[in-house]
Amino acid sequence: MKLAERLAALAAGVDQGTYQPALFSLADAWDRRKVEALVVAGEVREVHDRYVDQLAELCATRSPKQKLRGEALDEAVRAALGDGPPEERGTWVHYPWSGRLVHVLGEADYRELRFSRNRYKITPDEQAALRDKRIGVVGLSVGQASAVTLALEGVGGLLRLADFDELALSNMNRLRAGVHEIGVHKCVIAARAIAEIDPFLRVEVSRTGVTEENVEAFLTEGGKLDLLIEECDDLYTKVFLRERARAHGIPVLMETNDRGMLDVERFDREPDRPVLHSLLRGLSAAELKGLTQAQKVAIVLRILGPDALKGRLGASLLEVEETTTSWPQLASGTMLGGAVSTDAARRVLLGELTRSGRYFVDLDAIVKDGREAEVQVDAALEEAFVRKPLPSPEAPPLARPADKRTVTREDVRRLVGFGVLAPSGGNAQPWRFVAKGGRVRCKVSPDGGRTLNDFQHAASFVALGAAVENMVLAAPAMGLSAEVALAPDAKDPLAACDVVFRVDDASYAVDPLCAVLGARCTNRKLGTGAPLSERAAAGLVEAAEARGGKLLLATDRAAVAEVGEILGQADRMMFLSRKHNEEMGAELRWTEEEILRTRDGLDVLTLDVAASDLAAVRLATTWKAVEFTAKMGGGGALVKSARRALGSSSAVGLVVFPGTASHSYFEGGRALERVWLEATARGIAIQPWSAMLYLFARLERGAGKGLEPKVRDRLGELRQRFLRVFDVPAGHAEILLFRLSKADPPTARSLRKPVEDVLSFG
Ligand SMILES: Cc1cc2nc3c(=O)[nH]c(=O)nc-3n(C[C@H](O)[C@H](O)[C@H](O)COP(=O)(O)O)c2cc1C
Repeated sequence: MKLAERLAALAAGVDQGTYQPALFSLADAWDRRKVEALVVAGEVREVHDRYVDQLAELCATRSPKQKLRGEALDEAVRAALGDGPPEERGTWVHYPWSGRLVHVLGEADYRELRFSRNRYKITPDEQAALRDKRIGVVGLSVGQASAVTLALEGVGGLLRLADFDELALSNMNRLRAGVHEIGVHKCVIAARAIAEIDPFLRVEVSRTGVTEENVEAFLTEGGKLDLLIEECDDLYTKVFLRERARAHGIPVLMETNDRGMLDVERFDREPDRPVLHSLLRGLSAAELKGLTQAQKVAIVLRILGPDALKGRLGASLLEVEETTTSWPQLASGTMLGGAVSTDAARRVLLGELTRSGRYFVDLDAIVKDGREAEVQVDAALEEAFVRKPLPSPEAPPLARPADKRTVTREDVRRLVGFGVLAPSGGNAQPWRFVAKGGRVRCKVSPDGGRTLNDFQHAASFVALGAAVENMVLAAPAMGLSAEVALAPDAKDPLAACDVVFRVDDASYAVDPLCAVLGARCTNRKLGTGAPLSERAAAGLVEAAEARGGKLLLATDRAAVAEVGEILGQADRMMFLSRKHNEEMGAELRWTEEEILRTRDGLDVLTLDVAASDLAAVRLATTWKAVEFTAKMGGGGALVKSARRALGSSSAVGLVVFPGTASHSYFEGGRALERVWLEATARGIAIQPWSAMLYLFARLERGAGKGLEPKVRDRLGELRQRFLRVFDVPAGHAEILLFRLSKADPPTARSLRKPVEDVLSFG
């Protein structure tokens, strides 16, 4: 045979038409025989078996935390493979047009792995919903880009493709195809490409395009399409397809490959909507038959709108059938069209893009000289990376002129100056002082109690108690006596006490704790894990008892770790709950300007996290970022901080006080302050971890009011675990929970508002 004849014979044997892959399981005897037959018949020209690699990747993606590698990964793969031979696992796919036989994961595993990187952009529920959808694509220039992108992204479980045309070389400026595919039907080329990406995706093709004869079947066979993507050139087809889609209530998308123009027509929601946004002024499909080229151009221009004239497309339309055979289309526009239509399809099918309308993703207008976007940085975060800590708050002088006979305003200012050095939740400084002579009324600020973590002002009363304890400790060193009268005004529930300072001419015993009033602070640094000595523990317990409180200590490593787990779970829950998240975010101060202006809240430097973790703090307290994590049930990373901090600690302390009314929190606050000062004197670092405790109180004594139901349930479980660690005596208020550790001094300390802001003279 001559070469030319042999070549012609080989050419005649080329498969121009098949597009469905055949799927086999070699665990099935019948399938085995079929594969054997294919091999014998010479239908298998290449075998690709990377099944075990796929399985290994699947195992690794299922355990991202473990970062499986080496022996651990091999072990996981062995377990996943089980006993049988690997070739009997998964699916073998035969592609008749190429003679390839490929071993891939089984359908469910294949999907899970292939779409694992879609996660969090498309949730697993959304992926499943999209897999149920049937999408028609008509016209496979832009349509090919759409169909392939739909398949890549997992949008649609059935794709029905229609085009009457075969690939020509001149199409290859924008269609992704090989030179060996010239002459092959465009929809077959697309279907094959899709089958090679996802052999499990159902694809049907209509090689005649959509015609009056097959339109009904195209739109409704086997169940109505959920969406039609219309990308054909022919005006008549455009209109009659829409008329039929509208009759069936099928939404239509069109991407025009000019200025990124996308049309959305929601015939499913608007059954009477005129096709193509009324641009045809009532012309029906029938009236579009047999138009001249000039008439067609006029209608195309009407559809595209006046701006189309201004671009190169407008000029080109005049050249059609003069110097060019059809209007121009570029690969960049086609690929963009595929992306834009797939994105819109996903959102329409997930119920997001509900309105009809026209959009432009016009790269000429968006990306051009003069339209450069300002490159933005998160200035507050950037500043926090490099900012130096501000000076710590200072204690007022203790010395007092010997000859004074009365308590002066300056004395009161100094005493309150010691008071405000006390700790307060979120550094809210929720206290007010009104002085008349030497009598100082101490109240909780009316702004206190507004947050979820300040149930019935409990946290505010604790802070006020601590402030009063500071003043009472400072008084003797200033030559004054101090007497505390509780509940001075029955009509004012926010007034906790009056402290009466006097000049008694006596010499007062100065409590050694007075020496550390200015040094006490919150220290969130990680500790060394060194155990708490028995002496230190006894000293702290005594300090609480000196004011009628009780300090419960968990020092056992396992108990401390369990508290870390409980707090981690509570933190995660609070970060993922909008109200809590926003409250936590509102406490933080990122810039020096903000800190010096407000002088309250938490300077992020006091969190003592590594600079690299500040970005994570920013993210975790930005609700928009966390919202989706919450929806997905994610947020495991939010558990880590408590786990790590508690893991570095020597012990966990819980101060309790008899009774549960406001004054118990107030007096408990005084006991707490003594514990904290005692710890300061002994070089022990303290970091409260309080939010969960006050939520427990809200749960138990406030019937969980203000909490989301899921938070309430979860909190109930955590409460039970907590009570297994701490034997809280009945009828006691839980004042504060904190971790104790041996740690370096904190990087920064919280500022205080000026005394004048919280003290008035009556
Ligand atoms: C009632 C109360 C609750 C607190 N809760 C927390 C907490 O959950 N987490 C934390 O890191 N610090 C907590 N703190 C510490 C305060 O943020 C801290 O006292 C305040 O910022 C002032 O800083 P200073 O203690 O260094 O003076 C709490 C303090 C009090 C009094």
